[in-house]
Amino acid sequence: MYRISLLFYFLFLIWLPGANAKGVSCRLRCFYFRTWAKSFGDGSVVMKGVNVSNPYNLSVGENSGLGINAYLSCVAEVSIGDRVLMGPDVMIFTSDHNWCGIDKTYFNKGMSEAPVTIEDDVWIGARAIILKGIKVGKGATIAAGSVVTKDVESMSVVGGVPAKFIKYK
Ligand SMILES: CC(C)(COP(=O)(O)OP(=O)(O)OC[C@H]1O[C@@H](n2cnc3c(N)ncnc32)[C@H](O)[C@@H]1OP(=O)(O)O)[C@@H](O)C(=O)NCCC(=O)NCCS
Repeated sequence: MYRISLLFYFLFLIWLPGANAKGVSCRLRCFYFRTWAKSFGDGSVVMKGVNVSNPYNLSVGENSGLGINAYLSCVAEVSIGDRVLMGPDVMIFTSDHNWCGIDKTYFNKGMSEAPVTIEDDVWIGARAIILKGIKVGKGATIAAGSVVTKDVESMSVVGGVPAKFIKYK
């Protein structure tokens, strides 16, 4: 059943336009995530183009949004709190390919994994990339185009590549 609904999502639901939480396309996508995600809170929305691998490792709180074309690689758990906003093309990764020693390649060294936590009331700007093991504190802002390589303090604004502290809100 999981595989069939996965196919249905990627062939059909992912392409349906619509950002209105009460619209048909959003409701259908939310139904998919309510069924297969670890948890998916009331009032949360899933925009067009959202691609989540292993949705059973994804938790989304209430009134949050998975933004247009978001890519969430949930090899390990991704936990998104309440009222989290996401600009378009956000990426979240929970794994890295390992490399150690010149006799081994990425192909045969396996992966390292760590969960990502986005706390309540965070705004993730367009095209931000959040790497494995990161915790983004409550109320933080991640500027557009940032690559987040370290935990982000609550109520802070970070930006750049790699993302650095800019100011407190
Ligand atoms: C992070 C953000 C909210 C900051 O806005 P702001 O409070 O008005 O801040 P300012 O424009 O005054 O910039 C403050 C500093 O941060 C820097 N900065 C702003 N945006 C940045 C970015 N995306 N990357 C790196 N640095 C950034 C500015 O250059 C400035 O640095 P300076 O003090 O050295 O001059 C805004 O720049 C941003 O990225 N918004 C996201 C927009 C978006 O993705 N929208 C999608 C719709 S959901």
